[in-house]
Amino acid sequence: MLDELERLQKEVVISISQASTEQDISEIRVRFLGRKGSLTQLLKRLVTLPEGDRREIGKRANEVKEDLEKKIEGTLLPIRERERREALEREKIDVTLPGRRILVGRRHPLTQTLDEIIDIFSRLGFEVVEGPEVELDYYNFEALNIPKGHPAREMQATFFISDEVVLRTHTSPVQVRTMEKKRPPVRVICPGAVYRCDSDPTHSPMFHQVEGLLVDKGITFADLKGVLTVFVRQMFGKETRLRFRPSFFPFTEPSAEIDIECFICGGKGCGVCSNTGWLEILGSGMVDPAVYKFVNYDPEEVTGFAFGMGIERIAMLKFGINDIRLFFTNDLRFLKQF
Ligand code: FA5
Ligand code: MG
Repeated sequence: MLDELERLQKEVVISISQASTEQDISEIRVRFLGRKGSLTQLLKRLVTLPEGDRREIGKRANEVKEDLEKKIEGTLLPIRERERREALEREKIDVTLPGRRILVGRRHPLTQTLDEIIDIFSRLGFEVVEGPEVELDYYNFEALNIPKGHPAREMQATFFISDEVVLRTHTSPVQVRTMEKKRPPVRVICPGAVYRCDSDPTHSPMFHQVEGLLVDKGITFADLKGVLTVFVRQMFGKETRLRFRPSFFPFTEPSAEIDIECFICGGKGCGVCSNTGWLEILGSGMVDPAVYKFVNYDPEEVTGFAFGMGIERIAMLKFGINDIRLFFTNDLRFLKQF
């Protein structure tokens, strides 16, 4: 057993001399001094020896053990020191390198326009509400006084999901949903995406509208004109000329569309305004009593007005953009200008 001890000691010395990392050292420690290590195993066998031998060999074995522990510790220190130095060298930061530029994002021009619209109407006391884009035929048409088979359905080329379900063609269904839930007075705007089977430089199959609805006792067409004139002046500037042009919607009576002076030709007439000098920005009117019947409002007691505007059209006028498709192609050269 003494021989065995000597052999073990030599083996450890050789292993240590070959170790170069902290990992190597800890493997050596496990191999010889761990619970299943060879020196530990040898020490366990001491009990099988006769009394005299046991004391002598035991003493020797403990000396060998202490010696090994010292050697291992002694090797570990310089290795740790070296590894630390190497890590510091590797991870050195060159503070003289030029910095990386932070790219700043911008709000999409349509978001900017919508935020401005919401701002203006919030100041006038309107609250923002929303409704679903996948909508029942009932809300998109029927409760807006457009029964099945009515020619007014042709005004808006509709994407049907099924007989009873459509992609909403306008934000007007949110009027009905709001009045179902709330008794007058009502004063809301409803922004959101709408869909029509339509595509050219001023029509996109997906576009956005902001609906407005105000219902209370004694509301007149003068209130409609006042609110929408304030809106146009704040949106496009105090000097902007606008006109109310008689129109038709099944859910308003009387109805009017608002045009503003063409921003390209200043009203003289050009290609953009089809030589009229005017550009349409929204539809509006006094809520038709037929609509109140669907939501149990009493038309003898309350009156109100509604309007719906295209956000893309307003952004095009505000920023002088001549093709609606630019909003949706995500060309950075376009988006960076806002
Ligand atoms: C309507 O959608 C009515 N719901 C508006 C309304 C609401 C009237 C409340 C009365 C009371 P119209 O189909 O005209 O109306 O669309 C309203 C606005 O949406 C238009 O003035 C235009 O600015 C915009 N618009 C219409 N079709 C498109 C399209 N394909 N692409 C982009 N903008 C569009
Ligand atoms: Mg129209």
